[in-house]
Amino acid sequence: MAPHLVNYLYIISAALFILSLKWMNSPATSRRGVFVGEAGMLIAVAAAFIKGQPIYNLWWIVAAIAIGTVVGIPIAYIMPMTAVPQRTALSHACGALAAALVGTAEFYQRQPQASTELSGFVIVALIIETLLGFLTFTGSLMAMGKLQEVLPQRPITYRNQNAVNFVLFAIAVGIGIRIIAVPTDTYLFPIFIALALLFGVLLIIPIGGADMPTVIAILNSYAGLSACAMGFVLSNNLLVVAGALDGSSGLILSIIMCKAMNRSFTNVLFGAFGQMQTSTTKTEQRSVRSASPEEAAQVLESATSVIIVPGYGLAVAQAQHKIRELFDSLMRRGVDVKFGIHPVAGRMPGHMNVLLAEADIPYDRLVEMEDINGDFPQCDVALVIGANDVTNPKARTDKGSPIYGMPILDVDKAHTVMVIKRSMNPGFAGIDNDLYYMDKTLMLFGDAKGFVSEIVKELPAAKAAA
Ligand code: TAP
Repeated sequence: MAPHLVNYLYIISAALFILSLKWMNSPATSRRGVFVGEAGMLIAVAAAFIKGQPIYNLWWIVAAIAIGTVVGIPIAYIMPMTAVPQRTALSHACGALAAALVGTAEFYQRQPQASTELSGFVIVALIIETLLGFLTFTGSLMAMGKLQEVLPQRPITYRNQNAVNFVLFAIAVGIGIRIIAVPTDTYLFPIFIALALLFGVLLIIPIGGADMPTVIAILNSYAGLSACAMGFVLSNNLLVVAGALDGSSGLILSIIMCKAMNRSFTNVLFGAFGQMQTSTTKTEQRSVRSASPEEAAQVLESATSVIIVPGYGLAVAQAQHKIRELFDSLMRRGVDVKFGIHPVAGRMPGHMNVLLAEADIPYDRLVEMEDINGDFPQCDVALVIGANDVTNPKARTDKGSPIYGMPILDVDKAHTVMVIKRSMNPGFAGIDNDLYYMDKTLMLFGDAKGFVSEIVKELPAAKAAA
């Protein structure tokens, strides 16, 4: 009975994981997606207990679960929303280390019967598992360090870096192949591990801090593939399925992110993109029109349709609750307010959706870029809050621009544009934004939270003045 039961439970878990991924696709169903994923994992753990009978080291397992719970719950509560990318990197590091350690333990445990137990497909899977696991472990720690700014955010580069990395990786793979051919060559295994750990570090240090969210999605994919390979080593079907889901969803996510930024994988991994930020931060000396909160409130008051375009500055300022107040106030006055959401606004996938959902902005007011771009020509006011690159018309016109070809929100087509930001400093791509110099654009200089709060205060007065 037990083997059948375990298989049934594994099938239910796998189905729940797939539903979870499906539901996490939309802000409206994402909470359900998280709960269903957790239920799938709970069932998987229960099935593993049933499958593992008799369990020889129950207390070790209980201790591991207890430590994981004691560490995990506070991390989830304490980490601020803006630190979610680095928290995700830490989770990947732990997952990848677990897979790599299981692979290492299996390698040594099966040594006495190495010729039968470590042969053919199993040893190939074990080598892939440990290589990906260890390099993802150190790579994810590097990504976390860069995002948390405990490591330099700028790309750390030196001459022939890509060649050095390639040679190092080739040596690691060469040693892996030798171990596959002669699994009893145990002295090679620690060297193989050290090279994988070192490669993880060297792969990530040349990448700029702001590219880390994309890198984390790629590392997520590696961690998934490592878990998938572990499934083959342990003959565990659910691990194979869950690892494959993790690996492919991470890969798809990174492809979506690269496309939305009009960048290639190779450009993200080997392009040292963050360097541009430091080299081109000088902005042009052209004049702009600025306005006060009072003037901005009057413009909004007389509009019938407003599209708010949030960006990274919204996350920095934590202005989502104030924006909710502005949204409520305008809607009460009969203004049609929508939000234009760019797929890579902010610094992580779904960043704007998460922040606006936190402030309970209705989901049907959040409109994706492709669907809202047609509305800008009829829109009275486009209010850009802490967004920059995702609104820059240079992406359409300037072939020499680093963001050329990136799809943008067509904010410049609105009748009036208002931009809340603190200065004329550029955004992530380090380039000036032509939008700010247009005759129809009003710059609202200030912190997003403070400025929006001032506008909200001025709105009743604006009505009285009208
Ligand atoms: P950015 O182009 O980075 O611009 C953000 C703007 O917010 C800055 O110009 C900054 O100007 C302003 N800002 C910062 N703090 C502020 C505050 N407290 N109050 C008001 N404004 C503030 O952001 P975006 O338009 O969201 O574009 C995202 C960029 O990140 C894209 O280039 C994208 O390719 C890249 N990227 C995104 C992701 C994902 S998955 N979302 C991943 C990697 C890279 P001031 O300093 O003048 O205030």
